[in-house]
Amino acid sequence: MSEDVTRQQRDKTLKVEEVEDLVSSDTEELAQKCSVSYKALFAIRRVLLAQHTAFPVSGADLYEELLSSTAILSTGNPSLDKLLDSGLYTGEITELSGGPGSGKSQVCFGVAVHISYQLKQSVIFIDTTGGLTAKRLLQMLQAETSNTEEQMEALQRIRIFRLFDVFTLLDCLRSLRSGGLQASVGGGSVKAVIVDSVSAVISPLLGGKQNEGMSLMIQVAGLLKTTAKDFNVAALVTNHVTRSGGGEVQPGLGVSWSHIPRTRILLERVEKAATIGCSSRRSATLIKSSRQPCHIKEEFDLQWWSRSAEGSSGKRKLDETDS
Ligand SMILES: Nc1ncnc2c1ncn2[C@@H]1O[C@H](COP(=O)(O)OP(=O)(O)OP(=O)(O)O)[C@@H](O)[C@H]1O
Ligand SMILES: [Mg+2]
Repeated sequence: MSEDVTRQQRDKTLKVEEVEDLVSSDTEELAQKCSVSYKALFAIRRVLLAQHTAFPVSGADLYEELLSSTAILSTGNPSLDKLLDSGLYTGEITELSGGPGSGKSQVCFGVAVHISYQLKQSVIFIDTTGGLTAKRLLQMLQAETSNTEEQMEALQRIRIFRLFDVFTLLDCLRSLRSGGLQASVGGGSVKAVIVDSVSAVISPLLGGKQNEGMSLMIQVAGLLKTTAKDFNVAALVTNHVTRSGGGEVQPGLGVSWSHIPRTRILLERVEKAATIGCSSRRSATLIKSSRQPCHIKEEFDLQWWSRSAEGSSGKRKLDETDS
């Protein structure tokens, strides 16, 4: 009788219903109690541990991973590359923030064209503001090459999604994760995912009494992070700006979002340049970085792409009225 009770108690202690139960149970005892071999159980336990726990890795392993999987994609804009310590890093989220007209979208278009044409890699461009036009991309490409075939090949490598709400953005990111990123786009592998703008679909849902906006923002952040990491792509997102209590310009979406991008750059108009009729001058300030001292600042022209083409080939005439 007492032996039966002890067995029942032991059965209860070996009850395995969740992952945690299995990994914390005695594998040998469990193998004896069920019809699964010790070897198979051990293998299952190892797989579960690999998938569900955070393993510590050594600095050397981390460095090895960096060397084997991280690529640095030049933005094509020397000033931004300087702030970014050479360019956009795959596996990371980089953010461009700035007020209306500060140049976030123009920079994103330029980056997409540079990665597509110069680096011959594919880009996913998620446009949530309707700002992207084929004409503008072509105009930027025409500054790179006069060969129409090359222009078309480069356009093929830029896959554009137009969507205007956070639910469609989440669906889009999920579908990219479940296969869309592996499929080659126009012959190159996808190396960058650009979301212009991430705040346009999130900020209207924040504030007020409901927490749903925050939860959706965290979901977007999680998907972007894991996509960047798992598929080794560089994520570039844009954000609007707000003013702090002290009147200082700061990126929008609040403190929770501030931990999401690894690097943040603030774009601003150069006011003194605007007064002398040079309205396309912009400043870029590094406001978050794990590689460079923050608050370093660079100035550049929004037409940098046409200037570099002019400088390198000497063929293209800059259209100063363009901006
Ligand atoms: N097709 C274009 N050709 C030339 N200049 C343009 C073109 N589109 C925009 N610009 C100029 O580029 C500047 C930056 O515009 P951009 O759309 O990049 O700003 P933004 O930071 O994305 O603003 P928003 O927050 O409103 O999206 C503007 O001053 C605008 O006049
Ligand atoms: Mg824009």
